[in-house]
Amino acid sequence: MSIDLKSINATLEIPQENSTTPVKPEEAKTIYDFITEKGIERTLEIGFAYGRSASHIMAATGKPHIALDPFQDYYKNLGAKNIEKLGFKDQLELIRDFSHNVLPRFVSEKRKFDFIFIDGDHKFDGIFVDFYYADLLIDKGGFLLFHDTWMRSTELVLQFIRKNRKDYKEIPLANPNMVMMEKIAEDDPRDGMHFREFYNTRTLLRHHATMHMYENPNGLLRKAWLGVKKMIGK
Ligand SMILES: C[S@@+](CC[C@H](N)C(=O)[O-])C[C@H]1O[C@@H](n2cnc3c(N)ncnc32)[C@H](O)[C@@H]1O
Repeated sequence: MSIDLKSINATLEIPQENSTTPVKPEEAKTIYDFITEKGIERTLEIGFAYGRSASHIMAATGKPHIALDPFQDYYKNLGAKNIEKLGFKDQLELIRDFSHNVLPRFVSEKRKFDFIFIDGDHKFDGIFVDFYYADLLIDKGGFLLFHDTWMRSTELVLQFIRKNRKDYKEIPLANPNMVMMEKIAEDDPRDGMHFREFYNTRTLLRHHATMHMYENPNGLLRKAWLGVKKMIGK
């Protein structure tokens, strides 16, 4: 079946003021292409919002997909409505609950997935807990995708994995704001004493500059940034 991603994006209703909440259309296309190319079937995502990533995942697999998100009411159920409009309703199991409640249950039920998209709570501890459980829900050959890698919280979780989890390998993606990790070993090889320092400075400046501009929309830094963007035609 050939899927027209443009018409999926045109059908998705996403309020202008929240247009930066979902992955960008080009990131959604990367997710679609990756899943299609790998023939991935069992998918889970943490953070559903308006259903952009979910719709692309389901378009790629043609199989059931599970999405966790406790705040669909905040989004006026638009995500669920979008999925219905796109004809993916029967493929989607939307669990309106926090990942910290659902993921441990899935682990105890011995559920397994081939691909998990971590895009829910973006605080360090939230992402770290999602990674901890997601790791237990995939086998060797499974994939974990992280979004918003510009954020210091996400970068530090990724850096923990790079330094401490030699059973993961980073898969290069064209999109700078996403990182894909493949699990490359059946077992975590660390012993109980293992610890490698993972603090780094990458993203430190970018994160603090972005947060400053976000908190001071009329500040000098944002004005200068907008000026540079205009100058280089972005
Ligand atoms: C960035 S949005 C997800 C966007 C979506 N992946 C897409 O690209 O279309 C983050 C979502 O995570 C949800 N969220 C926040 N904390 C969560 C948690 N602890 N468990 C599950 N979802 C959570 C929020 O309600 C929000 O809808």
